[in-house]
Amino acid sequence: MQVIIQHDEQAAARLVARLVSRALRAKPQLVLGLATGRTMEDVYRELVRAHREERLDFSLCRAFNLDEYVGLPPGDPNSYRHFMNRHLFDQVNIDPRNTHLPDGMAGDLRAECERYERTIRDCGGIDLQLLGIGVDGHIGFNEPLSALRSRTRDKALTPTTLRQNAAYFGSVERVPRRGITMGVGTILDSRSCILLATGAEKAPVVARAVEGPITAMISASALQLHPQCCVVVDEAAAAELRETEYYRWIYANEPEWAEFR
Ligand code: PGA
Repeated sequence: MQVIIQHDEQAAARLVARLVSRALRAKPQLVLGLATGRTMEDVYRELVRAHREERLDFSLCRAFNLDEYVGLPPGDPNSYRHFMNRHLFDQVNIDPRNTHLPDGMAGDLRAECERYERTIRDCGGIDLQLLGIGVDGHIGFNEPLSALRSRTRDKALTPTTLRQNAAYFGSVERVPRRGITMGVGTILDSRSCILLATGAEKAPVVARAVEGPITAMISASALQLHPQCCVVVDEAAAAELRETEYYRWIYANEPEWAEFR
C-alpha cells in the first residue's frame, strides 16, 4: 500500500484523476471500477475537464460501479446510476453500453449479483478500481463484518451509512435499507485500486484502515492485502495517521511519483 498526502481535497482529487487518466491513456480498453459519493464528484469533474481539454478518450473504456441501492429505479435522482450519468457518463464519450451498475430493481437479487460478477469476469476483470470510504470503514456497501472474501451480494446498510447518506434523500427514513455491492473479495481481485478520502470526518477511519489490524469490522483494512493499492488523502483525512513522515518521504523521493509532484 502507498499513502499519498495532498494539501487539500482538490489536490487529492486532481491526483486521483491524473492516475486514472494515465491508466486510460496507457490502455484505452481499460476496465475501470467506479465509486459514487461526494468525494468522487471532484474526481469526475477533473476527468470531464481532461476529456474536454486534453482529449481524454473513454470510447473503449468499460466501467463497473461498486454498488447500487436496492429498490431505486435508474431514473431516480438518488440512484447511483443517476449520479454516474450526471457526474461522468453523460459528459464524456463513454459508450453507455459499456457502463455497468448492479440492477437494484432486479426481481431476483441473487441472480443479478451472479450476473454482475460474471459480466466483470467476461470483461477480463477490473484493471483499476476507485474507492471511497465510509465513516464506518465500508468500501462499496461492504458494511462492518462483511467477509473479507465476499462477492457481489445484497447487504443491509448500517444506521451509520443511512445517516451519512440521509442528506441526499432529505431524511434518514427515506434512504433505502439495502444495497447491492461488489464484495470485498471482488474488490481485492482488481489489478490495482485507489482509495480517496478527504476531510477531518474521515481521519479516524483512515488511520484504522491503513495502520490498524486487518479486520472485517473495517472493510477498507482488507486493502492492506491488495498488492497494488494507493490511498490518497488530504491533510485533514491524514490527521490521525502515525507514519506520515515516511509516506511523505516516499512520495517526494520515489521515481514513480516524479511526474505527479
Ligand atoms: P462520501 O462517501 O464520498 O460521500 O463520503 C464515501 C463512501 O461512503 O464510500
